[in-house]
Amino acid sequence: MLDGGFGRDTLVVGLGGGVSTDLAGFVAATYMRGVELVNIPTSLLAMVDATVGGKTGINAAGGKNLIGAFHQPRGVIADTSLLATLPEGEWENGLAEMIKHGVIEQRDHLERIAAVAPSIRAADPGVVAEVVAESVAIKVRVVCDDPFEEGRRKVLNFGHTVGHGLEKLSGYRLSHGKAVSVGMVFESEIAVELGVLDQADRDIIVDALEHAGLPTGGMEIDGGRLIEAMGLDKKKKRGKTMMALPCAIGKMVQNHGNWAVEVDSQTILGVARKLA
Ligand SMILES: NC(=O)c1ccc[n+]([C@@H]2O[C@H](COP(=O)([O-])OP(=O)(O)OC[C@H]3O[C@@H](n4cnc5c(N)ncnc54)[C@H](O)[C@@H]3O)[C@@H](O)[C@H]2O)c1
Ligand SMILES: [Zn+2]
Repeated sequence: MLDGGFGRDTLVVGLGGGVSTDLAGFVAATYMRGVELVNIPTSLLAMVDATVGGKTGINAAGGKNLIGAFHQPRGVIADTSLLATLPEGEWENGLAEMIKHGVIEQRDHLERIAAVAPSIRAADPGVVAEVVAESVAIKVRVVCDDPFEEGRRKVLNFGHTVGHGLEKLSGYRLSHGKAVSVGMVFESEIAVELGVLDQADRDIIVDALEHAGLPTGGMEIDGGRLIEAMGLDKKKKRGKTMMALPCAIGKMVQNHGNWAVEVDSQTILGVARKLA
């Protein structure tokens, strides 16, 4: 871009899946200390998640999400007809995030995704456009409340504390969508164990994931290794981890502006045994 003589009036266009739009965003955030950005996401995950909220970044050998910047795009153009060529295995990544949006903010979104999941997977552009718009609106509401992740935005981590641990344990062979799906089941179970979520609501979450063709169990999870993978010291028995947990469908636990709940290792080990 420097060689091409691009100035401060440059507009960067990010076209592609989340990897490309995150990179384009990082370039826009840093080139000449920040130029305009427009994103055109082409994967379902990039439409409902990666291009919403202003987080940009590049992956480094040391880990994910270590190098990046907050940089809001001027606009996002989500043309759902682009999804016609999305590989079969990529749909689940977006679907898991959409179900997460329903759990954290809007029960009828969760119910709609579950009901129309086959049409979504069949890339029906009308149905997909409708649910994508709804899912984006939910994430936008959460992000506008907390643009720099100081509070409420943490609810977007629902299913991800355990999900990231499972991805790591699988050597990153498990897709993000599958890991987050099982992560949401695991964390819902923790919420039930802690007495903050009703079993009936937990069942609705699991049903929605199943309707969407996402995995909800059938995975041998070694609780000890999971705790380690989540960054907790196995030997530190009193070690606790913070998780964003639902207290109903469409509502997350909040305690004096704190959106994450302390979960101890014993509870995690207990749930891992229960799900085995
Ligand atoms: N910035 C954020 O807030 C945020 C949020 C969530 C995820 N992310 C990032 O997003 C990335 C994952 O995004 P992703 O799931 O889109 O992965 P991706 O960008 O790797 O795309 C998945 C695959 O699908 C292909 N593809 C994309 N659109 C296609 C289309 N229309 N037709 C055919 N092939 C297509 C891609 O080339 C790639 O092979 C991760 O790096 C993650 O960290 C960022
Ligand atoms: Zn995710």
